[in-house]
Formats: sequence, C-alpha cells, structure tokens
Amino acid sequence: MLMQTILVLNSKGGCGKTTIASNLASLYATGGVKPVLMDYDPQGSSLQWHQLRTGKLAHIHLINASKTSKRQTRSWQLAVPPGTERLVIDAPAGVNGILLQEMLGRADVILIPVIPSPIDIHATSDFIRDLLLVGRIRSLGVHAGVVANRVRRETPLYEPLRRFLNSLRIPFITTLTDTDSYVRAAECGMGIYELPEDETALEREQWLPLIRWLACPEAPPRKMPDLPRLSLVSGA
Ligand SMILES: Nc1ncnc2c1ncn2[C@@H]1O[C@H](COP(=O)(O)OP(=O)(O)OP(=O)(O)O)[C@@H](O)[C@H]1O
Ligand SMILES: [Mg+2]
Repeated sequence: MLMQTILVLNSKGGCGKTTIASNLASLYATGGVKPVLMDYDPQGSSLQWHQLRTGKLAHIHLINASKTSKRQTRSWQLAVPPGTERLVIDAPAGVNGILLQEMLGRADVILIPVIPSPIDIHATSDFIRDLLLVGRIRSLGVHAGVVANRVRRETPLYEPLRRFLNSLRIPFITTLTDTDSYVRAAECGMGIYELPEDETALEREQWLPLIRWLACPEAPPRKMPDLPRLSLVSGA
C-alpha cells in the first residue's frame, strides 16, 4: 500500500495539532497500520509524548524534523522506514516559508484543528485563505479538512466558520470535545484509543468521521452544499 502523509497544521498555537497528530499515530499503530510521527516543532511536544510511551504499547517510529543535522542530508534525516503506511506530521505554530513548503510538498492531506472561539476562527480563516492562495494546495492535489477541537458545548458560534469553509469547499470533518481523556492519555504517551473503551466512548464516536474522511479524502464531503464563492467570514 502507498504511504499516506497527513499534515496536522494551523499557524495558530494551542489548537490541538500535537494532540491530533499523536492520537492519529497511536490509532494507526494500535490498528496494525505502520505509522511514523514526524515532529517539526522545536518545542518537541510529540517527541516528549513519544518518550512517555512504554514498550508495551504499539510501536510508533518518531522522526525529529525540527533540527537540521550537519552529518546527514535533509532527505536522509526525514527518510521514513520501509513499509511505513501513514506519515503523520505535527507542525509547529506560526510556521511559514521554506519549512511550510517542505511540509506541504510531502502532504497528501492537511488536517486543520481549530478552537471554535471568534479569535481562533478568524486567525484560522486567514490561514486557510493563505494556504489556498500562497500554498496553492489545490494545484498540489492536497485535500484539506477542518476539525473543531476543545469544544465545550454545541454553540452557534460555528456558523461563521461553516459558512467560510463552505465558500471555499473545505470540509468540516468533526468536532472533538474538550475532555480529560485527552490529557490522561497524553500523560502516558498514549492516544484515547489506548484508554479503556468504556471510558472513551464519546471520543471514539467523535473520531469516526475523521477516520472515515482520512480513508477517502477525495470523496465529496457529505452535507456540503455546492455554494458559489462567498467572501470571508465577516462578509459571508
Ligand atoms: N480535545 C481536547 N480535550 C482536552 N484537552 C485538549 C484537547 N485538545 C488539546 N488539548 C490540550 O490543549 C493543550 C494544547 O493542545 P496541543 O498541544 O495539542 O496544541 P498545539 O496546537 O499542538 O499547540 P502548539 O501550537 O503549541 O504546538 C494541551 O494541553 C492539550 O493536552
Ligand atoms: Mg504542538
């Protein structure tokens, strides 16, 4: 099987990039799909998460892409082991320039986590517009989707984001609630799929649309009306 590269990306900090990237790697590993987790963030959050994993857990190969090595070429440093089926990239906040192009050049799919607060939605909307215009992800054949993360309650605050995404034909994939399970799992270098099933029923249910979309990101997203191009959040 060909490798799928999933880039978890948003220039906004703290929206859940590391949480989603590490949970994806853990999900694939526990499901018997060979993942590599690549940490581009100098903060090394995925690296630290990975160091907490015990030998009893399913193996995840980690690559630290945040440091350049004088002894290795970049392509050698970023080489994934043979047989890798999913490459999950954890991007740093505020990434741009050559590093962003390097990550975009590898990606098949871009997952954009967003916290549904007005400030985060606004920043993310600008970021997505730049990705489409400057990053030209459509011409690169990269599929992008948005995940609302750390949601405390269902709120109509989503509407501006939904309208904006509709206008750009970017699918809204799922909503992940703010729960202790993510924190508890992260403390042990695990994902929510490695915690007991009866304690993580809500989280597992919320991940299902994301898992389905990643399996077939080229399929037209469900419930996405074919709207004409609208203006950005404020004007939509
Ligand atoms: N769904 C969730 N429920 C509860 N806590 C969460 C959830 N998602 C993320 N968090 C917590 O929010 C904080 C920020 O998440 P995370 O580190 O994944 O964000 P990030 O986008 O990678 O941040 P940075 O931009 O600094 O790299 C962490 O403490 C994480 O445990
Ligand atoms: Mg992070």
